[in-house]
Amino acid sequence: MMQKTQNFIKKHDKRFLEELFDLLRIPSVSADPAHKGDVKKAALSVANSMTEAGAENVEVCETEGHPIVYGEKIIDPNLPTVLVYGHYDVQPADPIDLWDSPAFEPVVKKTDVHPEGAIFARGACDDKGQMFMHIKALEAMVKSGEMPCNAKFMIEGEEEVGSANLEIFIKENKPKLAADIILVSDTGIVSNDTPSITTGLRGLSYVEVEVVGPNRDLHSGLYGGCVANPINILSEMIAKLQDEDNKITVPGFYDKVEVISQEEREEMARAPYNEENYKKALDINAVHGEKGFTTRERGSIRPTLDVNGMWGGYTGEGAKTVIASKAYAKISMRLVPHQDPDEITKLFKDYFESLAPEGVKVIVKPHHGAQPAVTPIDSSGYIAASNAMEKSFGTKPIPLRSGGSIPIVALFEEVLGLKTVLMGFGLDTDAIHSPNENYGLFNFYKGIETIPYFYDEFAKLNK
Ligand code: BES
Ligand code: MN
Ligand code: MN
Repeated sequence: MMQKTQNFIKKHDKRFLEELFDLLRIPSVSADPAHKGDVKKAALSVANSMTEAGAENVEVCETEGHPIVYGEKIIDPNLPTVLVYGHYDVQPADPIDLWDSPAFEPVVKKTDVHPEGAIFARGACDDKGQMFMHIKALEAMVKSGEMPCNAKFMIEGEEEVGSANLEIFIKENKPKLAADIILVSDTGIVSNDTPSITTGLRGLSYVEVEVVGPNRDLHSGLYGGCVANPINILSEMIAKLQDEDNKITVPGFYDKVEVISQEEREEMARAPYNEENYKKALDINAVHGEKGFTTRERGSIRPTLDVNGMWGGYTGEGAKTVIASKAYAKISMRLVPHQDPDEITKLFKDYFESLAPEGVKVIVKPHHGAQPAVTPIDSSGYIAASNAMEKSFGTKPIPLRSGGSIPIVALFEEVLGLKTVLMGFGLDTDAIHSPNENYGLFNFYKGIETIPYFYDEFAKLNK
């Protein structure tokens, strides 16, 4: 089955890539208000691609923030419906001077991991490249007359900033979004020889902290040693958030953490992983993390706390002798099943404030959060994805939890009552959110090849 579709894909592969390049050239950075117009432009481009692929009722739905693009192809209301979710917004490209080629001028370059070539651009993998595979797979199925079931598309422009308006959109559009499964390609596989399906995502609590000292910046000679230095104090406070075993010290932080059985940990450990290669890829001589857990476990089934940025005082050229009035940090906590982001944020706030010595004020500002999500491996959605990948890769994929977050996935279940299948095609080496983000041509085309098989398998399993 799906032979005409597969032939169509092979025949049009060059054009698919050129069209993706057009989308990658639009700097749709959702976090930066200066790019609001570009984000809108990307939304219109996605809508246009959907229409050209044969989708109907295509709409660019305005929100308080960036638009959501909706489209559908209903061939028979009695057949099952796949709701595809993805995002066309991207992370900022900074630091831009670390890119070997400009972030919004896509090029194909050969790499050690991708001798066949990889697309270098911000969003190449996360998530324009992966989302676009779904539009092209739809086009191939529609134009070959081989749509096995119905499809709905919901592509947002605020995933990288927390999906707040998508939450409102799904609450207000439940009938329109009625479906049988949600299909997402915004995660990765172990390697191109070892396909995998993501069965869990971590949640997130993100806060910004501010330590306020004297009412103005001071001469560090005249005042040094006499007043609390906010940057020194902030560093001390941050250092207290983890103990010598790299356990997080926030009281109550681990109380609800899901305990994973020994069997399940052994099962996880069977997935191929080589610590020497892991270290080599990052140019580090040792891994680092919570005592009693492996690197794989630290990065998926265990919660973490990291400073994402820290600033204050003088950071320009040369030396300025100054004690800053204020110091700041942005801190993320990745959460695992049963940890609630609001509860964790509250625990953090209470503890962090309690760490402040006399002489400074501390302000904790919560940012967006995300609930953790786990997906079952006995559902028809998972089985369809597994069968589809087995067909295209020639190897049965393994289930694996990921460390990243996709805020809306838990809400899909809560609001729409739908399970999500995380059938992504990225690799850890794709450098998402980093300079030189890239996506293998192998992965792009393997995704387009696999998606029609998913529809076919899902339709068969839900007859
Ligand atoms: N696609 C990623 C998440 C991801 C990547 C999950 C690889 C699993 C494997 C997504 O775009 C992302 O970056 N999410 C953010 C969420 C945040 C901005 C609310 C994250 O995880 O930091
Ligand atoms: Mn993403
Ligand atoms: Mn991302």
